[in-house]
Amino acid sequence: MEQFDLSVEPRDHALAATVHDIDLSQDLDEAVIAAIRAAWMKNPVLVFPGQTLTPEQHLAYSRRFGDLQGHTVKNILHPEYPEILVLSNRGRGGTAPINNGGAYWHSDITYEEIPPMGSILYGFEVPPEDGDTLYADMTAAYEALDGETKGQIDGTIGIHTYRNRHLAMVEAGVRPAQTEEQMAKWADVEHPVVRTHPETGRKALYINEGFTNAIKGLAEDEGRQLLDRLCAHATEDRFVYRHQWQPCDVVMWDNRCTMHRATTYDLSYERSMHRTTIRGIKPA
Ligand code: SIN
Repeated sequence: MEQFDLSVEPRDHALAATVHDIDLSQDLDEAVIAAIRAAWMKNPVLVFPGQTLTPEQHLAYSRRFGDLQGHTVKNILHPEYPEILVLSNRGRGGTAPINNGGAYWHSDITYEEIPPMGSILYGFEVPPEDGDTLYADMTAAYEALDGETKGQIDGTIGIHTYRNRHLAMVEAGVRPAQTEEQMAKWADVEHPVVRTHPETGRKALYINEGFTNAIKGLAEDEGRQLLDRLCAHATEDRFVYRHQWQPCDVVMWDNRCTMHRATTYDLSYERSMHRTTIRGIKPA
C-alpha cells in the first residue's frame, strides 16, 4: 500500500492534533485511513475541522476503524441510525434532550465487559462559547505517578457500573429515568486499573470518575480515596487538552488512554452532536 502524507498539525497539548485537508464524507483510500490511524496512535485526540457529514457518511467513516457499538440508553439513539448517539439539548430527531449530560470525567462505556476503543463526535451545532470538551492524557498521567503509587495500583482491578452515574444524572435532571428492569442490565464489571494499550504497548490509567466505583479487595472508603486521588492527579492541567468547538468539527478520541468531560454552557444556545462508538477488546 502506498503511503499517504497526512497534514497533521499539533495543537496546544501533546494529546491532540488537527488533521487538515481531509473530507470525511468521502470514501477515503485505505492509505488515508492507515495514515489517520497512525496519527491517532501518536495523538489520541484528532480534530478534523469543517466537516459536513450525513449520518450515513459518519457511520461509513467510523466503520473504517471497526465495528460500532450502541449505547445502553435507548432514547438518546438516532431513531433511524441507532449506532449514532444524539447529544443534543434540543432533542434533535425526537431523542431525549441532553443538557450538560457528559459533564463528568469518564471514558466511554467502561461499564461494559468490552468497552469501546474510540469515539467519533461530530459537533454540527455548537454554542458560541463554552460547552468545550476536556480530554485527560491517561498515559502521561500514569507515567508521572511516583513508584510507590505505581506499585500500589499495578495489577489491581477497578469495579465499573453505569447505575450510580445514571441515578446521579437523573437526580440532576440531565438524563431521563429508566425503570428498575432497564437498570438491571448494569451489572458491575471489572477492568484493570492500569491497562496496556493494545496498539502502542504503553500503560495508562484506566479508571474514571463517572463509572469506576470501587477497587476490588479494598474497603469502600479506601478504594474511593484512591480513585479520587488518581482522578485528581490525571485531571491536573498539565495532562488536559481543552477542545473549544467550532461548528462542524469532528473529534475522534481513543478511549483506551484518555478520559473526557463536557463543560457547561448557556442552554439558550443549541449544542447538537452525533457520536459513533467503535468496539474495542477486553482491557488487559
Ligand atoms: C461524550 O461524553 O461523549 C460527549 C462529550 C461532549 O458532549 O462534549
